Amino acid sequence: MRTDTPVTIRRQNYLPFPYDIVAVELEFDLDPASTLVRSRLQLKRLAPGPLVLNGEDLELLSVTVDGQSWEGGRYQLDAQTLTLDGLGDEAIIEIASRCRPEANSTLMGLYVSNGVFFTQCEAEGFRRITWFPDRPDVMSRYTVALRADKQRFPQLLSNGNLIAQRDLPDGRHEARWEDPFRKPCYLFALVAGRLTWRESRMRTRSGREVLLQVYSDPGSEDKTQFALESLERAVRWDEQRFGLELDLDRFMIVAARDFNMGAMENKGLNIFNAAYVLADPESATDANFSAIEAVIGHEYFHNWTGNRVTCRDWFQLSLKEGLTVFRDQEFTADMMAQELDAQAAASARTVKRIDDVVTLRAAQFPEDAGPMAHPIRPDSYQEIGNFYTATVYEKGSEVIRMQQTLLTPAGFRRGLDEYFRRHDGQAVTCDDFVDAMESVYVQDHPGRGLSVFRRWYSQAGTPRVKVSLDHDAARQTCTVTLEQRCEPVGVERLPGAPTKQPFHIPFAIGLLDAAGKPLPLRLASEAETRDSLLLELTTQRAQWTFEHVAAKPVPSLLRDFSAPVIVDYDYTDAELALLMKHDPNAFARWEAGQQLATRTILAATRARQQGEPFSLHGEFVEAWRAVLTVPGLDAGYRARALTLPSEKTLAEYMDQVDPIALADARHETLGALGRALAADWRAATEANQTPDAYSPDPISAGRRALKNLALAYLMAGSVEGAQQQAQAQYQGARNMTDRMAALSTLVNYGEAAAATAALTDFYERWQDDPLVVDKWFTLQATARSTTVETVEGLMVHPAFSLRNPNRARSLVFQFCLNNPIGFHRADGSGYRYWAEQVLALDALNPEIAARLARTLDRWVRYVPELSESMRQALQQVRNHPGLSRNVTEIVSKALE
Ligand code: ARG
Ligand code: ZN
Repeated sequence: MRTDTPVTIRRQNYLPFPYDIVAVELEFDLDPASTLVRSRLQLKRLAPGPLVLNGEDLELLSVTVDGQSWEGGRYQLDAQTLTLDGLGDEAIIEIASRCRPEANSTLMGLYVSNGVFFTQCEAEGFRRITWFPDRPDVMSRYTVALRADKQRFPQLLSNGNLIAQRDLPDGRHEARWEDPFRKPCYLFALVAGRLTWRESRMRTRSGREVLLQVYSDPGSEDKTQFALESLERAVRWDEQRFGLELDLDRFMIVAARDFNMGAMENKGLNIFNAAYVLADPESATDANFSAIEAVIGHEYFHNWTGNRVTCRDWFQLSLKEGLTVFRDQEFTADMMAQELDAQAAASARTVKRIDDVVTLRAAQFPEDAGPMAHPIRPDSYQEIGNFYTATVYEKGSEVIRMQQTLLTPAGFRRGLDEYFRRHDGQAVTCDDFVDAMESVYVQDHPGRGLSVFRRWYSQAGTPRVKVSLDHDAARQTCTVTLEQRCEPVGVERLPGAPTKQPFHIPFAIGLLDAAGKPLPLRLASEAETRDSLLLELTTQRAQWTFEHVAAKPVPSLLRDFSAPVIVDYDYTDAELALLMKHDPNAFARWEAGQQLATRTILAATRARQQGEPFSLHGEFVEAWRAVLTVPGLDAGYRARALTLPSEKTLAEYMDQVDPIALADARHETLGALGRALAADWRAATEANQTPDAYSPDPISAGRRALKNLALAYLMAGSVEGAQQQAQAQYQGARNMTDRMAALSTLVNYGEAAAATAALTDFYERWQDDPLVVDKWFTLQATARSTTVETVEGLMVHPAFSLRNPNRARSLVFQFCLNNPIGFHRADGSGYRYWAEQVLALDALNPEIAARLARTLDRWVRYVPELSESMRQALQQVRNHPGLSRNVTEIVSKALE
């Protein structure tokens, strides 16, 4: 365990590495208990200075320089570095060392999962394998020799191409791999073990034949077909949409049962959390299928945006992550829309946009307002593992999306072509990316540039845009004023921080008349009219005047969520209902419904807090009924439009969060809507049955989403017959989506005996499938009736283990994150449980512990009774001796 005092690393202190590591040869004698690693580095000096290599948890055996032993005071070794002085301009360094994969519970570096060797090197895991300049701007050619017992480890995989294989004495064998591309060490990977695989061959657009393979543990071979097909679709899509071709002869994906994150884009050898590879209709839900396709796309797309062009330093992480999330979101949208008619395709794209915005608001907005707030390109960190955040990823993607909006998709494509033309094979910065985009932008917008836009990279926080409308009846004009502000957050609040500057905000709007008819927009300065307009707010405040506007219109604002901002406009309830019905922009229609629901639930929360009765407005009920019954909408869209905003999203609107009142009010609203629209919900469950033969396509998935949402409303409302319907669906389900949905409503809203019986049945059926057992734990962790004691009971279940991140996430994280009632119990027991688990995890896996630590980030915003207990729990963690750098950074920032 680390006990080092945290050091703050700053972006402005970047210095290039003084050596070029031209070639790296690695040899592994793989043994779970103790693995021997020999590395041979061929280096050239670029600037004066010693050679400083990083290493962690390694046992150094020997160092030679140009074949001569370099012992006896000729190098310095400490817990983190190996320093060699007095090297010539060119040198060959050979280092032998040992590491202990089986004892490695951090899952960074080389580790063993289910008897199989895996690596995870991003961000700083390579230093746990061998001494090396562990930074992304040192790029080298790698050759790798793997040796291991042939019986136990028949498959030996690494990056690039297999160039030789042979048997060795004593039942061992060897494989040699060569990666033709220079890469930073964070993209190194090896896998060794007994694996089964599925493969296919395809021709890239230039006619090269490539081999695609998906590896997984024996017995799971029937669950990799969808992953392989997703990979094929990703390869095609990147050719078609961005002209980017697979550059290797062989591309492999391997599923690991123990994995800290979603997946990793190692060159030619992606390693995945098994949850994002394995699926069949019986064991995986629609959400699982779509997450698999998205993550496979994401990692594949990194081959260009991340691997061919990588990051100069880790502050630039969003250069590859924001861009690659944007690419995977576009991939999913295109896959959802394909083979549909124009209207259905547009609706499918809106559904995808809604899902992405929901994630952003639930995960990133709170982060951007809390103690860990940081710009998408942070200025400092203590532990880079803590900056794989919703801000760097999801907000980073929004910042890329805004560039596409400002440049148009065609302009954006030219900008991306220019980026690769300039930087292929290099390690670069976010500024380099914007420079390439700007070079195209200025051609189409003479006299303008992206200098104001770049502030999205340097300033944190979610801007608020206040909108006001000024209608002049005499002139028949309407003036729209946009005014932005963004409070300092995180380190921006510290004295001496620079004052924040306005952002460049693309703000899409439309106007409707009082009957809901779209008004043609005509700016005072222009001759043409249009249906929708992209306003560009680049200053603190700006105005636009529209002509021929007879009466005060209803504005349709931030269409398609054209920027990651919060809009403030004083709509009346009637105006929101009008937008819900008539806004031609489907995203804005959804948004109006969410706002109406937000008002309703917040009013119900206040009523509860004051002990007053609450009942739903007839207007709200009718608006909901209309979305459910009006002809012409597809089921997937209806399901999104009828889903109440989550507690996390709602909490951001409260001055003092009272999580239990909020959760109860939301539940009460759900139940009241369930009863008020019971006949319509029942009709929806009947009208949206899907054929027995399962398909994860968006139309079928949309039907299941609506049907299962309707069932949840009926159950939450305790509507007559709902419980029997849920039980029947649970028993008769032909796919996991329907089975889980029914089980979830039973567990959350059903009679206790029926819920227990179904949970027992579920475990018995699925106990041998770890990914389904995770679902079983999650259901219970998030159930309304679950308490700390329930969770502690589940932790001693034989199937539970804190060492397996998926298992820890399915129970411990789910309880702390998604069970407001159990977690926020007034006696503080939830927070004490949290502190215990953070500490227990920290001893095993600091990266995972730090993620759990983040669940109390927003403690100051809670009602005083709760926030005080949260503070104590944070304090208890911070005072613990031997805390990792990861958790230290999180809890100290939270307490600052
Ligand atoms: N680059 C990987 C991805 O795109 C994430 C790896 C993060 N690894 C880590 N140990 N934090 O999605
Ligand atoms: Zn990524």
